[in-house]
Amino acid sequence: MDSANIDAVRKSTAPERDTQSSKADVNALVSLCQPDMAQINALITERMQSDVAVIPALAAHLIAAGGKRLRPLLCVAAARLCGTGNTRHHNLSAAVEFIHTATLLHDDVVDSSQLRRGKVAAHLIWGAPSSVLVGDFLFARAFELMVETGSLRALDILSKASAVITQGEVLQLMKAFDLNLSQDDYIEIISAKTAALFSAASQSGAVAADAPEEQVQALYDYGLNLGLAFQIQDDILDYQGSAADLGKNAGDDFAEGKSTLPLILAMRASRATDAAFWDRTIGKREQKPGDFEHAQNLMKASGALDEARAVARDFADKARAALSVFTPGPWRQALENLAVYSVERQT
Ligand code: IPE
Ligand code: IPE
Ligand code: MG
Ligand code: MG
Repeated sequence: MDSANIDAVRKSTAPERDTQSSKADVNALVSLCQPDMAQINALITERMQSDVAVIPALAAHLIAAGGKRLRPLLCVAAARLCGTGNTRHHNLSAAVEFIHTATLLHDDVVDSSQLRRGKVAAHLIWGAPSSVLVGDFLFARAFELMVETGSLRALDILSKASAVITQGEVLQLMKAFDLNLSQDDYIEIISAKTAALFSAASQSGAVAADAPEEQVQALYDYGLNLGLAFQIQDDILDYQGSAADLGKNAGDDFAEGKSTLPLILAMRASRATDAAFWDRTIGKREQKPGDFEHAQNLMKASGALDEARAVARDFADKARAALSVFTPGPWRQALENLAVYSVERQT
């Protein structure tokens, strides 16, 4: 994580926004992981190279913009928490970030998003076909990195997660503009599209460390619950965040008719007059200027955002609880703080 990103994370944990700022602080995790991350970032740069010039150019556009690097941090912290005596987690961490980057390239095409990591989305510069193909290239590089570790189990975990992510994205697409999506359907979608990679990152870190089964399972549970909390907060921020903080535009989910938890809860709580609004904008896909602002107001007024936040906090609590099998120490503490950060973050 470069200094700009660390600043962005710091900003998100600013005391005025966060009642638990010390717990939500990820700086300790970033510092602990720094020696590993320096090598992982070098590996990422090395492996995104290609003789076909557009590939490294497009990949660098996104990768050099930073991002929080949460998934590799997760893989490193899991391996270190399990007391690893090797560096297999370096390849796995780079692979996990490549898989994540590939899904972002694809996702921005699917969601017609215009901004990513504070920059113009790659598909608007190089076109959707190049963006999708460079995503495929990064997926392929991820598999090379995983194979090099010689760990069939890590390869199994991360390749299964890759298939599950795509299933989640397709399922979400099929359920867009659906007024009847339930909270259970939503949890199924985000378990697949987001939590699967979080759990695979932390679980594969433990596997790379040759950790005992109880620890491997604990880190799977931790990653899964962390991923769910993280995505719910992401979906909240899509209604109440700003592009300056997020590096991506708020309002994309509403425009795409994504049945996220804030929307599901707001529709559930709505009065008869509001039901007509949701039916038009989501059910009939007829949106006009000012509708997003109206949706934001309805969400605030109905308490849907607070309710969604409570659901996210429950998952973050479950993530922290999963770490109880480990003896307390700086790595465990840093991962506990990450769980708090995932629901308190504003970026
Ligand atoms: C974005 O993930 C996609 C979601 C799962 C919401 P991040 O918020 O981790 O994206 P970067 O890597 O920091 O840009
Ligand atoms: C991100 O999902 C892509 C994956 C999790 C695979 P979203 O569409 O919800 O995230 P943003 O808002 O574009 O980052
Ligand atoms: Mg998206
Ligand atoms: Mg989103």
